[in-house]
Amino acid sequence: MTQTKKATEKSMRAIALDRFGGPETLKVQTVPTPEAGADEILIHVESAGVGAWDPFEREGGFVEVLGITPKFPYVLGTDGAGTVAAVGKNVKELKEGDRVYAAELGNPKGGFYAQYAVVNADNASLIPSGLSMDQAAVLPSDGLTALKGLEDVLRLQPDESVMIFGASGGIGHLAVQLAKRLGARVFAVASGEDGVDFVKRLGADAAVDGRSDNVLDVAREFATDGIDAALVTAGGEATDRALSAIRLDGRVAYPNGVMPQPKAPHRVSLDAYDGEGGREAIDRLNELIEAGPFEVHLHRVFPLEQAAAAHAALEEHHLGKIALSVG
Ligand SMILES: NC(=O)c1ccc[n+]([C@@H]2O[C@H](COP(=O)([O-])OP(=O)(O)OC[C@H]3O[C@@H](n4cnc5c(N)ncnc54)[C@H](OP(=O)(O)O)[C@@H]3O)[C@@H](O)[C@H]2O)c1
Repeated sequence: MTQTKKATEKSMRAIALDRFGGPETLKVQTVPTPEAGADEILIHVESAGVGAWDPFEREGGFVEVLGITPKFPYVLGTDGAGTVAAVGKNVKELKEGDRVYAAELGNPKGGFYAQYAVVNADNASLIPSGLSMDQAAVLPSDGLTALKGLEDVLRLQPDESVMIFGASGGIGHLAVQLAKRLGARVFAVASGEDGVDFVKRLGADAAVDGRSDNVLDVAREFATDGIDAALVTAGGEATDRALSAIRLDGRVAYPNGVMPQPKAPHRVSLDAYDGEGGREAIDRLNELIEAGPFEVHLHRVFPLEQAAAAHAALEEHHLGKIALSVG
């Protein structure tokens, strides 16, 4: 393994937990720098994505669900971007100095809320052209989840119509653009008037505020015989009502974690799934993103030290994603 001078530093600054719990557990600490194994890369992190699921991980939810025995201090952060500082001996596709982004859930070597992170090289990729470090940092989990939902689970065909419910959120705003790239007609159910303006700007063919009571009227105008498929990223009564706009024998998909779980109407299929990384999936995501203008929207970028404020901001209405600048 080759190591840059910086990467040979034995310790680094991180937001690390001594126990699972509330936002008060997010503390700046000095922790050991992780080391890359043969199939891994060490990333000098510039920006970390803040996932909608990070508070759940902070509270200990993931280790329970995934059956992992946690090691403390525990560094959060599934998504991030930075520069390759070292590569393991089996890694061929990436080299020191490359600008990369990556996602790894429940990473035993620690997450991206830190100056350095180690990931399997197959979960990392060069940053698509046109994206900043902060944009790349928030992209991977939600981008891969949006794309898997549309292409693999819903098997969306060109010229089909698709409802994106939660369209102004993390997965949603990426799904609107990816569905357009796949040739679909997009009906976006966004949050608030600002959300509606946002998704129209991103290319949605029709958009409505999912918190208003005219979703079904607008949906019927959009597709008189019903909408072919739906990708759902927020659950509740409004969701289940909106799904009655899906046609007979239509399809609904949602990533695990959406609560309450959506209910599909009679003769509409309903699939829960998990986003997935890996070389092929990331390459496909990059290919679609680079095929034209693409916006990864940052609501706010907080300094690493303000991770607790970033978690609080997740709970408030916002468009797109939140990042932590590690610097
Ligand atoms: N299983 C997996 O692989 C996987 C991967 C990634 C994410 N997830 C899960 O998927 C879910 C979505 O993730 P995300 O990153 O997209 O979260 P997010 O950014 O919070 O997106 C959800 C969006 O839905 C909006 N919304 C809520 N109620 C609405 C309504 N009635 N009408 C219209 N919009 C509404 C929210 O708006 P406001 O801002 O106004 O609340 C928010 O923009 C989370 O539960 C996450 O944990 C699972």
